[in-house]
Order: sequence, then structure tokens, then C-alpha cells
Amino acid sequence: MKIAILPGDGIGPEIMAQAVRVLDALGEPFDMESAEVGGAGYAAHGHPLPPATLALAKQADAVLFGAVGDYRYDTLERALRPEQAILGLRKELGLFANLRPAILYPELAGASTLKPEVVSGLDILIIRELTGDIYFGKPRGVRECPDGPFKGQREGFDTMRYAEGEIRRIAHVAFQAAQKRGRRVTSVDKANVLETFQFWRDIVTDVHREYPDVELEHMYVDNAAMQLVRAPKKFDVIVTGNMFGDILSDAAAMLTGSIGMLPSASLDASNKGLYEPSHGSAPDIAGQGIANPLATILSAAMMLRYSLGMPGHAGRIEAAVKSVLQQGLRTADIFEDGTQRVSTQQMGDAVVRALA
Ligand code: IPM
Ligand code: MG
Repeated sequence: MKIAILPGDGIGPEIMAQAVRVLDALGEPFDMESAEVGGAGYAAHGHPLPPATLALAKQADAVLFGAVGDYRYDTLERALRPEQAILGLRKELGLFANLRPAILYPELAGASTLKPEVVSGLDILIIRELTGDIYFGKPRGVRECPDGPFKGQREGFDTMRYAEGEIRRIAHVAFQAAQKRGRRVTSVDKANVLETFQFWRDIVTDVHREYPDVELEHMYVDNAAMQLVRAPKKFDVIVTGNMFGDILSDAAAMLTGSIGMLPSASLDASNKGLYEPSHGSAPDIAGQGIANPLATILSAAMMLRYSLGMPGHAGRIEAAVKSVLQQGLRTADIFEDGTQRVSTQQMGDAVVRALA
């Protein structure tokens, strides 16, 4: 099994080092090869997604990705910014289905900013469409405004669009995921205002006819944002477009109080995937050895389960993570009085020990 290891920027290399140690500790002959991506790709090869990195990702059975983003590169032209690496990988590898679980570990209930009774036992799965919508729609750019009161001035514009097949395939992913969980799907849209999302609603409703065992509810995105903080446990699976999913998944992650704990998977039609922590590159704490490696370690577990066909190993890693939390070990982001503060490396050590 070949795994592409793409640590990226900021805290990426530190957290990735711990995930690689955990994979090594499984005793399988994984062929892990790393490459630069994001700002690191730009620094080494002049592009955030260097051709060799893309080739490695295409040829591997799965990709384990750290994080990209670094203020040093924020002033580059858009095509050279670190974020283009992850957008390019999603598009080039056809990773249209983004699975972002938001699970509250009982040991961490106090870390949430919401009252424990609102979030305890939270277990929701956000399924975000990842290769369409206003993120990739063309045309886009800055042009001369063609009409209206600002005619003749410069204007920025993007294009929101979804093809029927794009909506159908993500709806199938959501209904099938719900069949393995609580059998409820909430499709989030803005059908009251946007043509694209009225069409989304119609297509999701049609696909739902193939899944009579799953309950489907439609919700406008503004209401969904409100319900997520009011009564998040009412949700099971949320399916939505690329833009709304970007925003709602950050909100959902924060409900758990520990975005440093949440993994994610981005899958293509044959379950080949890219796995990455839900958090970003946190350049402000890079190099200090305090970042939480658990989201990346749990992303490696998702990779074993979804792309490499090794659910037993996935379960072992997840159990090891639970065990270190039960031992009271915490990185700075989830530290509370009465627990023991550990470094990135010490957290990796503990997971490796718990695996053995
Ligand atoms: C995410 C990130 C990316 C996105 C950025 C880094 C391009 O916010 O994975 O949610 O907007 O999709
Ligand atoms: Mg985001």
C-alpha cells in the first residue's frame, strides 16, 4: 500500500510526524513517500502543488495531508497561494465527497463553549460537496460592471453552479452514510433565494425516492447555522454544497470544543481518498511543539478504514486515542484543570504506547 505523505505548512510537519509514527507502529509494510505542498511546495519548487507532488498523490493508494497556509505567501497572486494546493488536489483527484464528522468525546465535554447538556453525546456527520459550486464555477474574476447603478465600475464576480450528476452523486453518498448511522439526512440549501439551490433541493428529493428507509429534511443554510448552535444533537447527517459546507463544518467542529481532534476524508467515486485534519496550519503556533496531533492521527485511522481496507487497524488507533484521553493527557488546545498538559511529541508517544 502506497501512502503519499503531504505535511504542508505551519504545524503540518509536526502533527504529520506523529501520525507517521503511529502508522509505523502498526507493523504493516506501508510504502510512505512524502512531498512538499502548499507554501512548502512554493518555497522548494515555485508552485504550491508541484508536478511531482501531484504525480505522487495520483499514484498512491491514499493521501495523508497535514495543512497548508502561511502568511508569508498571502500576498502572492492567487494561483500561487498555498490554498491552491488543496483545491488543486481535490479537483485533480476528483475528491467530490468530503466527510467531516463532529464527535464530542465525553472526556472533552468541558472544552466546548456550549453547555454540556447541549453537546454531550454529539455525533454528526457533515457531508460537503467538494469539487463544484462557487468554489470552482466559471466565469469568475474582476471585470467592468455591465449594468445597474454601478455600471462601468470594476466589479468582482464568481459563478455558483451545480450539474445534476454532481448533486445526485453527493446525495447518494449522504443517504448511504445515513443508512449506516441514524437514518436521517438534513439537506442544507438556500432554495428560497438561489436557483442553484432550488435545483439542488429538487434533485436531492428525487434521489431520496431510492432510500425510503432514510428520513430527509430540507433546511435553509441560515436556519441550519442557528440550529447547529441551538440544538446540534437533532442532526444526524448533513449534506450540503461546497460553500455552505465550508462554513457549517467549521461551526460544527467548534461545537466539540476541540477542532484539534477532528479528522476528515475526501473521497472519489471509488473511495480513493485524501485524509486531513479539519483544522488548519495554525502558523502562529508552528514549531513550538504544542499542536494537537490527534486529528491527523484519527485521519490516518479514517484512511485505513475507507481507502486501505484495514478497519481493524482503524479501530485500534481510535481505541488508542480514547485511551490517552482517559489517561488525562491533553495538548494545550484541550487542556483543563486536573488534566496533564503534554507536547505534540508526548501525545504521539502516548498513542504509540497505547497501541502496544
Ligand atoms: C477547508 C478550508 C479550505 C476550503 C481552504 C484552505 C481552501 O477552509 O478545507 O475547509 O475553503 O475548502
Ligand atoms: Mg474551511
